[in-house]
Amino acid sequence: MAPTGSRTGRPTLAVVGATGAVGTVMLQILSQHADIWGEIRLIASPRSAGRKLAVRGEEVEVVALSEEAFDGVHVAMFDVPDDVSAQWAPIAAAKGAVVVDNSGAFRMDPDVPLVVPEINPHAARVRPRGIISNPNCTTLSMIVALGALHAEFGLRELVVSSYQAVSGAGRAGVDTLRRQMSLVAGTELGTSPGDVRRAVGDQTGPFPEPVALNVVPWAGSLAEDGWSSEEMKVRNESRKILGLPNLKVAVTCVRVPVVTTHSLTVHARFQDEVTVAKAREILATAPGVVLFDNPAAGEFPTPADVVGTDPTWVGRVRRALDDSTALELFVCGDNLRKGAALNTAQIAELVAAEIIGA
Ligand SMILES: NC(=O)c1ccc[n+]([C@@H]2O[C@H](COP(=O)([O-])OP(=O)(O)OC[C@H]3O[C@@H](n4cnc5c(N)ncnc54)[C@H](OP(=O)(O)O)[C@@H]3O)[C@@H](O)[C@H]2O)c1
Repeated sequence: MAPTGSRTGRPTLAVVGATGAVGTVMLQILSQHADIWGEIRLIASPRSAGRKLAVRGEEVEVVALSEEAFDGVHVAMFDVPDDVSAQWAPIAAAKGAVVVDNSGAFRMDPDVPLVVPEINPHAARVRPRGIISNPNCTTLSMIVALGALHAEFGLRELVVSSYQAVSGAGRAGVDTLRRQMSLVAGTELGTSPGDVRRAVGDQTGPFPEPVALNVVPWAGSLAEDGWSSEEMKVRNESRKILGLPNLKVAVTCVRVPVVTTHSLTVHARFQDEVTVAKAREILATAPGVVLFDNPAAGEFPTPADVVGTDPTWVGRVRRALDDSTALELFVCGDNLRKGAALNTAQIAELVAAEIIGA
């Protein structure tokens, strides 16, 4: 660990929402990545002010969110709810910080780039509002693999089903699953209608239904015509990141009793004919992707093995039986790492390189 003094002259980083599900993983990532930052300032709500959290092997005191908290900050990561980002990201930007925002507040703003460093790193340089958005975790859990395939075959259509972990709904999601699991563990529940619901009670946390011993075909809030907000995000954000405004996208988002790591089945249709051999070659060499696909040996990614890792894992690669231009994939990605904190850290590192090189 370099002594603090040697960090003089390096950019100052603020982590807003340092105490949350994403913020906690962010502090781990900042401790694991190359130590490019000067001061790292930890910010959360007044509830957390004074708490001490470890980053880069040092204890750092959390300060409450305020205008002064951004004094001297070069890059500010926002890992807070949408309304908090909507209010405070422009304030941080007005004080001179480049904001990298993990919330949904600015993702579809035409003046805010939506960046995945493996796909569109150049977009991070054009930020008229001083804000760069990080895509939502469901999109991010698949998009690096799809971007690599798109570059070769030309993507035309996506049909996606997600199997989303409860930590996608933050600390409250994880607390809810753990509480419900303790109530159903060791019982014979799950054999008659409503027995799980009666056991876990009305407190279903951020989910509309019990999530233990269950799957829930819903994530986010109600959008138009029966779609969920999460499903609309996957469609709109995939289009924006890939620069394909007319990409056909159909998504069904489903919550499953997994703590962390989203999984997705993907039917991807391309402009050109595809072969499994070429698709495997692309996925095996794409940065940020691991091909793990040997069903004969029982090898395919699952959240239990992928959690805590950085890459997008792809398995079950098949050509569609009835369409020689389409591939079927099973994709897993840690929603708190590449799905949130890691992608944000990568964007912030791009900005830091710009600042240091300027
Ligand atoms: N979870 C995921 O997989 C995921 C993935 C991609 C993006 N995101 C997005 O990332 C953001 C954070 O998500 P999360 O899952 O980490 O949520 P979380 O676990 O609920 O944490 C929320 C964080 O925001 C802080 N906060 C809340 N209200 C605040 C306020 N008024 N002022 C200052 N700080 C405030 C909290 O501080 P206190 O501890 O002091 O309350 C906490 O640090 C959200 O916009 C979410 O949509 C999440």
